[in-house]
Amino acid sequence: MQELAFPRRKGILAPLSVLVLLILPLVDLPSANGSCEFPSSWSGEWFQYGKPQSVIINTTVLGERTCLEKTDDKYIVFGDNCYHCMIINGRHENVIQYRETGWCNSERLRLENMCSEITSDDTLYSMFRVNSKPIACPFSGASFTFTYNRGYGECAMPISLVEKCTDESKLLLKYQACPDVVGTESNTEELQCLASWNDGRNKYLVGTLKERSALNDAKTYRCFLYEEKSHHQGKMIYLLAQSGDPTCNGLTTVSEGSPTIKLIKVDKEHNRCKYPAWVTQHHDWHSLNGTKSYHFTNKNATLRVKMQAQNTDGEIVHEEKIICHNLEKLYPNDNMQGNKVKLVAHVTSGCDIGYVCMIFHKRDSHIIEIQQSDQKAIMPEEACSMSDPSTRPYTTLITTFLHQRRCPNSGQYEILNFASLDALSAAAPSRQRRSELSRTTKRRTWQENENEECRSTDIQIGCTPSDQAEIIIGNTCEHEKIAYSCHGSWEEKGMWYTIASQRNSEISGSTGQTFCFSMLLKNAKDKGSRQKQEKELWLSRPSRTCQREVKDEWTYRLSNQGMCEVLMKTPNAASASSLSQLLFILHIVTYTAINTLCVLLSR
Ligand SMILES: *[C@@H]1O[C@H](CO)[C@@H](O)[C@H](O)[C@H]1NC(C)=O
Ligand SMILES: *[C@@H]1O[C@H](CO)[C@@H](O)[C@H](O)[C@H]1NC(C)=O
Ligand SMILES: *[C@@H]1O[C@H](CO)[C@@H](O)[C@H](O)[C@H]1NC(C)=O
Repeated sequence: MQELAFPRRKGILAPLSVLVLLILPLVDLPSANGSCEFPSSWSGEWFQYGKPQSVIINTTVLGERTCLEKTDDKYIVFGDNCYHCMIINGRHENVIQYRETGWCNSERLRLENMCSEITSDDTLYSMFRVNSKPIACPFSGASFTFTYNRGYGECAMPISLVEKCTDESKLLLKYQACPDVVGTESNTEELQCLASWNDGRNKYLVGTLKERSALNDAKTYRCFLYEEKSHHQGKMIYLLAQSGDPTCNGLTTVSEGSPTIKLIKVDKEHNRCKYPAWVTQHHDWHSLNGTKSYHFTNKNATLRVKMQAQNTDGEIVHEEKIICHNLEKLYPNDNMQGNKVKLVAHVTSGCDIGYVCMIFHKRDSHIIEIQQSDQKAIMPEEACSMSDPSTRPYTTLITTFLHQRRCPNSGQYEILNFASLDALSAAAPSRQRRSELSRTTKRRTWQENENEECRSTDIQIGCTPSDQAEIIIGNTCEHEKIAYSCHGSWEEKGMWYTIASQRNSEISGSTGQTFCFSMLLKNAKDKGSRQKQEKELWLSRPSRTCQREVKDEWTYRLSNQGMCEVLMKTPNAASASSLSQLLFILHIVTYTAINTLCVLLSR
């Protein structure tokens, strides 16, 4: 503990002081005479253990004390009716240390006399700048394993782990509990480095520690004495002694601390596996709704994810670095090159660091889906066993440029009713019921402004002659039809998913927006159906995520009105190719005719 009262141990000098006081006129009472100044670099607000409030320093004042006289690092200050000699050292722009001695209710002595009383056995006080600019932590390397000792033996099994956060002033210390060592427990602490300096052979570090599990954001200052041991078996080692309180006291050797820590640099951090080639053949991917972008760098082993999120202050960007650590077999003979690849990856997101299990699905050359475990494991081996990514939601990623692809389940369809309200609407599809329906289910319709007078009527899927790559939704009131281009589809467990973008969009700002349609072929339940088809096609609304389950987002039950050809009023297969063949023949005929004419004329 720090001595709160200033020392008054110069009793021997007191009678002499009284004598001097009688002789000397009382002229040199404390006054800031301008000749004594503290370095301006010390100005600011400082924390000192034991002081209820932070200490304010400016060029003339240090807390309650005024600077009277200085020589080198020795200062005579006056405050609270006491004179003090302080020997002050600025260790770093964020750390000041001093030793002091003082005389209270006494007269001022010569600086040399006052300061010569101070010895290295006197308490060393440390002050840490409040709200200081942090520094990069002085340990080179991105991750370390470590053992620690709280005085009851070294905890080395299991080994603990230190990782560098995205912000290089921060380290995450993941303490593991050793069953056979008392006083060890697993917890995670965040160290932020604020200052480091050398004093002779000794190296010091000051930082704040924050417990990860703590509900509040409480930080506490700690001082470390550390030593860099040259490569032991080719490995860099740092020995650290941590102070037991927010001072730098009691740190005399790296073998005594609370606790002592031994950091061992991890040389080969990651196996640096490669993400599947069908993922890295495009460097940039983004999520369907555009809020996440994925960029592959560093020899296809690192993935940088940027996430945009809206909060009250506007847009915030959150970044993640995902390094491929190890490819995992999905089944015994998996060559890990197929359309589904499982891997363990190391994720750094600020100070949220750990290993996750991921599954990449190839859907099309420009469409992939990712599933990721929701927890971060400390050790890579635990990542896939701790949480199963196959039960996690899919993130659908697309490239900026998309190809036109044929839409699945092509045909011409009539809208029967809302699939999600099957029973109600099927029972009485009367006009009155319909309006009731559209009032209560506004949210579930294609467009927000849709009402009874203005509703979708029919849907054509893949009926455009050239490429069969459009979904066209007819509308009773807007004469414009809404067209979507298909960019790729896949089937999974009976459900079809199609990535599509809106074409002649009338909604401002929505140009180029990409959506996912989910389609499901269902056996028609309605016996009174006019249709001959047994099957109905259930179609989701165009959604910014691929809907896996039939939920509110499912809007329509569609009945097939026939093949696309019916629509084109040329029953005998006037398909795209035959139409272009026809045009080609016409072209040839015309060309031949003109040629013939020319030949005739030239005669
Ligand atoms: C230093 O702080 C004291 C007390 O707040 C104030 O009276 C004094 O003017 C300050 N000096 C300078 C140089 O700012
Ligand atoms: C990254 O992946 C792409 C596509 O598979 C490949 O063309 C490229 O050579 C890879 N780069 C490196 C450095 O491996
Ligand atoms: C966008 O999609 C991502 C991934 O599917 C999801 O996590 C996020 O919540 C979505 N954001 C919005 C605003 O819809």
